[in-house]
Amino acid sequence: MTARVTTGRAGLFVTLEGGEGAGKSTLARRLAADLEARGHAVKLTREPGGSAGADAIRALLVRGDADRWSPLAETLLFAAARTDHLERTIRPALAAGRVVICDRYLDSTFAYQVAGHGLAQATFDAVAAATAPERPDLTLVLDLPPEAGLSRSRGGAVGEDRFERLDAAFHARVRTAFLDIAAREPARCRVLDATHPAEAIAAAALAHVTERLS
Ligand code: TMP
Repeated sequence: MTARVTTGRAGLFVTLEGGEGAGKSTLARRLAADLEARGHAVKLTREPGGSAGADAIRALLVRGDADRWSPLAETLLFAAARTDHLERTIRPALAAGRVVICDRYLDSTFAYQVAGHGLAQATFDAVAAATAPERPDLTLVLDLPPEAGLSRSRGGAVGEDRFERLDAAFHARVRTAFLDIAAREPARCRVLDATHPAEAIAAAALAHVTERLS
């Protein structure tokens, strides 16, 4: 991901990325509350989901047998959900000047479908260009050894474990992919050590967002 699309963007687009159980959802809620307490208008959202249509597609992606979709079919479902999410939630919120905090976005498709499942890079690039031209202003990557994350994430929503059930090698590729993205795009990405106390992670995340807002 390189180009930043700024057309019509008055707000700030922040994404949170990382493997299973890294604490993204907790951090996203905390960050939204901290920013609102400082007077910022915030839209907290997540992928897959974030709009009625995308939430309906989410159920197809996070439930059921691990092999129910091919890598390409899975990628296109994520892209369809993202398209609806962008159209109905993200673009309007950015145009209204909000800080959009999005729990997962396009980097998850690279990490899970390209690095994890072997989708061709050229296919990813084509789908991304066609469906997700908006690139985040800031991406916080929560980094955690997969074994630690997977034991934490077992308390998630019932039945939404289709990706969690994949093997250790898959989750290791996902972790490496997020770190590679952060290394390739240092201006956009900040890596946060998810083994640190939640308070310290939240403070670091808030500092990174505040820096972009000023
Ligand atoms: P969640 O557990 O963070 O809600 O995300 C649901 C699962 O979907 C998670 O295991 C990661 C996966 N995922 C992808 O494989 N590709 C994507 O593009 C996105 C957004 C999520």
